[in-house]
Amino acid sequence: MDLEFVRRQFPAMGSLAFFENAGGTFVPQTVIDKVSRYMIETQVQPGGDFAPSVRAAERITESHRLMAEMLNASPEEVMVGISTSMNVYILAQAIRHWFAPGDEIVVTNLDHEANNGAWRRLEEFRLEVREWRVNPDTADLELDDLEKLLTDRTRLVCVSQCSNITGSINDVEKIARRVHDAGALICVDAVAYAAHRRLDVKALDVDFYLISLYKLYGPHVSLLYGRRELLLEAKRQHHYFIEDDDIPLKLNPGGPNHEFTASLSGIIDYFNAFHRHHFPGSNASLQTRMSECFDLITVHEQRLAKPFVDFLDSKPEVRILGRATANHKLRVPTFSFVVNGRDSNEFPKHLAEHGVGIRAGHFYAKRLIDALGVDKNNGVVRASMVHYNSPDEVKRLIEHLDEVI
Ligand SMILES: Cc1ncc(COP(=O)(O)O)c(C=O)c1O
Repeated sequence: MDLEFVRRQFPAMGSLAFFENAGGTFVPQTVIDKVSRYMIETQVQPGGDFAPSVRAAERITESHRLMAEMLNASPEEVMVGISTSMNVYILAQAIRHWFAPGDEIVVTNLDHEANNGAWRRLEEFRLEVREWRVNPDTADLELDDLEKLLTDRTRLVCVSQCSNITGSINDVEKIARRVHDAGALICVDAVAYAAHRRLDVKALDVDFYLISLYKLYGPHVSLLYGRRELLLEAKRQHHYFIEDDDIPLKLNPGGPNHEFTASLSGIIDYFNAFHRHHFPGSNASLQTRMSECFDLITVHEQRLAKPFVDFLDSKPEVRILGRATANHKLRVPTFSFVVNGRDSNEFPKHLAEHGVGIRAGHFYAKRLIDALGVDKNNGVVRASMVHYNSPDEVKRLIEHLDEVI
């Protein structure tokens, strides 16, 4: 992967060695251009007959189409919403009438609260919520434990494809198969996964799927995918005069953010430029192009991760949460750790003085922090890499951490 080419595409790239990518990534110029062009040229209500309005609608439609194609879904299966937390909340409201008192929903204590709290609230409607708990030693969810939770009343299992704390990847394809065998649906939070791998809802065979585009080189909006027949059955959350078969529009209680939605094609423009640069002359499909881009990205990210995990592993006072490996089959390069007897907030402060950006806390996965017993450290220290990070930046991260551990 041509790192210099990659870094040139992101105008925010500067002297800060940025490792808070799991919180939100930088955006390429292609996205910025699309937001500003929308606001300059087409900042009018879309769908009218006058030229800027026609153009606005075209830009929004094209972006929406590309986002669906990126997920390997159709546009009517993909809603653009304000955030994943909001999208899950809306989804829970839209499908809660499917469930009878005593029906069961499984949530995890690994997940970010987004794919958690909105489901747990359904206890108000006398649903039973069951918790799939991580093994506290490994921070892994084990399929055998899910097995014990599934009953003939299980209607839905909510789980993440990747933890925003440990970076561990869950085998969603396998989990989905097991959930479907039990006659239930699966809702997958792929927010922490999306910046690192190609996305394909059909290959995973999931029912609902969530990503936040501000963590995939885009603006602050999120996608909710739902299988077509399920979205048709979901209850309208929009105004009463929006038709029941008008998906995904009927699910969105408010209008989407037009300028950000229109800019989403800029994410694909970036990956297209990345692909053209590395595979000139190709006319492969978008899914294939994304796959080839992410093959290169994965190799680069593993190279970044290796020295960092080796460094953490060499420190007896450090506890890595999750898998102490750089292996891309097992994780994305998001690392969290605690240092024996130390407040996690000490470390980001020191690193910030040296131009290295990381953070500490529970990152809204508070249930996991509590389950792993690291609440006494005030949460974890997290450093997360994406493909635009450089080996030199990782060196600086290690060097300055080494001064204070
Ligand atoms: C794994 C995971 N899921 C969900 C979310 C929430 O996303 P949003 O900010 O779009 O609600 C986050 C945000 O940090 C996350 O890391």
